[in-house]
Amino acid sequence: MVLTLNKDLLKGFVSPKDIEKIAPQIQKAHKDLHNKTGKGSDYLGWINLPSSIKPALIDELEDLGKKVRENSDCLISIGIGGSYLGIRATVEFLRDAAKIPVYYVGHNICADYLANLLDEVKDKRITVVVISKSGTTTEPAIAFRIVKKFMLEKYGQEQLKDRIICVTDAKKGALLKIAQKNSYRSFVIPDDVGGRFSILTPVGLVPLAVAGVDIRKFVAGAQAAEKEYSIKDFEKNTAYQYAAYRHVLYQKGKVIEVLSSFYDNMAFVCEWWKQLYGESEGKDGKGIFPASMIFSTDLHSMGQLMQDGMRNIFETFVMIEKSKRSVLVPEDEENLDDFNFVAGKELDFVNKKAYQATSSAHFEGGIPSMTINIDMADVFNLGHLYYFFEKAVGMSGYLSEVNPFDQPGVEAYKKKMFVLLGRK
Ligand code: PA5
Repeated sequence: MVLTLNKDLLKGFVSPKDIEKIAPQIQKAHKDLHNKTGKGSDYLGWINLPSSIKPALIDELEDLGKKVRENSDCLISIGIGGSYLGIRATVEFLRDAAKIPVYYVGHNICADYLANLLDEVKDKRITVVVISKSGTTTEPAIAFRIVKKFMLEKYGQEQLKDRIICVTDAKKGALLKIAQKNSYRSFVIPDDVGGRFSILTPVGLVPLAVAGVDIRKFVAGAQAAEKEYSIKDFEKNTAYQYAAYRHVLYQKGKVIEVLSSFYDNMAFVCEWWKQLYGESEGKDGKGIFPASMIFSTDLHSMGQLMQDGMRNIFETFVMIEKSKRSVLVPEDEENLDDFNFVAGKELDFVNKKAYQATSSAHFEGGIPSMTINIDMADVFNLGHLYYFFEKAVGMSGYLSEVNPFDQPGVEAYKKKMFVLLGRK
């Protein structure tokens, strides 16, 4: 089994009776997800997405990736939200899987960030992948305008066809028009998959393949998860268990979930998870507030609040069974720092002890937790983990009786910004 869920530290916070009470809702949500009979069912394309990815698409993208890397030293990936976070999370989690550096723009509107980035890449050979489902989102649209001008000055119009790739809707949006007018190569995002569920569509697969990530194994991991979490039986479906336990905790006043990990490369996976859970559940006056921490770093900043602050938090740890590299703590003859008691131990062993100590201390301090264990930080497991979280949020959104697949709230700031910018 790729992924396991440890629930020992829910003891005293969630009982079997709590789960029995919501068993009918869990069964209904399972049916609604699989028969497409629940709220937002037009956006359930992600459910069978992994198994419907055509091998020919993977071949095509691997081929594209090889060609791009022959003439490019780096990739600029333009996008925001669901068209950004999963890509960055994957590249950063895997550390060494990308064969060329990936630069991200269009996820902010910060002048110094973009100017510095363009200075940094100006002498490199560049390919740009611009991703926008709607094709009209302000941040990536403006960033693309700036990057396109920069690329035009660097390469001239004719060469841009080989250096700009678009990922967007099949029928509508400004990005589609730009791609068609300029004959840029483009890939289609399926209609029935929302931004935050789109990492396994061309949104993620195109830039990841271009960067050199093994998308074949990535998709295989998600396919295994699709099969595993399609099981109706609650006892056998860890995605449903995670969803149900967090739902019960929420009902009992634990309104903040902290996704905690002991690995720096989890930081952007946590950001991806926050979008997935925040946008899916935070509506109609409801929703668990998704937060994240990277330990032990954050134990020295947020540790006090976690241990001792307001008791409205529960925690979900993501642990990785084996580190890829071995680092030993050396013996020191002088032992002036008094740390010879860990000499000869693996650093990963020390990290695991920090996890055991933290989860136990937080539990005793009133924070229940679950732990998701995966065996290694590799691309197969990550594909599996993404799908696990997607399936669980579908379930938990339906348990909260919201539409987990829309995001009407994100329009509010856009409308005000357009007024301030004088858009007609
Ligand atoms: O979940 C969502 O739909 C959003 O976060 C989008 O992913 C984000 O706004 C980017 O949208 P688009 O891909 O249309 O540019």
